[in-house]
Amino acid sequence: MLKTLDHPLALHVLTHLRDKTTKPATFRRLCHHVSVMLALEATRDLATREVSIETPLETCKGRVLDRPLVLVPILRAGLGMVEIIVDLFPDVSIGYIGLERDHATARARSYYCKLPPLEGTRVLLVDPMLATGGSAVQAIDVIKQRGGSEIRMLNVVAAPEGVRAVEEKHPDVPIIAGALDRALNDRKYILPGLGDFGDRLYGT
Ligand code: PRP
Ligand code: URA
Repeated sequence: MLKTLDHPLALHVLTHLRDKTTKPATFRRLCHHVSVMLALEATRDLATREVSIETPLETCKGRVLDRPLVLVPILRAGLGMVEIIVDLFPDVSIGYIGLERDHATARARSYYCKLPPLEGTRVLLVDPMLATGGSAVQAIDVIKQRGGSEIRMLNVVAAPEGVRAVEEKHPDVPIIAGALDRALNDRKYILPGLGDFGDRLYGT
């Protein structure tokens, strides 16, 4: 299941992210903005429990989050989404999955993996770009092998090919994306896309 952002602010932010004249400092800030919107959408149905608290005036009932959250960025571009999500959910645990696409074949190679305990948690898997879906499918495979079962995939931009790949291999994992783009080019870059997210984030 794919959900895309339709808030006018999301459309505005995505347009500036796509603009090739946007510089890395602004690009990082815009990445934060869209990450907040994706994280809120991906946690809309998070479990809460009732608590009783004292306001300065009287006792009242409230609700607090009741599901441990784990944030898993796919390195390196996914790191751009981490800091702002940790600001929103300070109790989150963080795992890291390092995957890098080979420039010639576009197949992802795994080079790092460190994950906290995943059983009984909501896992937010973050990677700005869902292109062929190879990286996402590999990352979800690993998360499931390590006990993760309630997984949400968060992407800034998704291509139809990537959405299809995740839906085929992991139909239980909802995808929340800033936008669904048109297609991939022959080098497996997203069109219209925004180019290489990691390079634009880090100025490489
Ligand atoms: C990019 C992106 C995703 C992957 C998407 O990372 O951040 O991880 O490509 O492509 P896919 O859906 O076809 O697998 P890249 O491998 O360029 O590494 P980087 O994050 O280090 O720039
Ligand atoms: N990775 C990127 O950073 N951009 C794309 O368009 C595809 C994969």
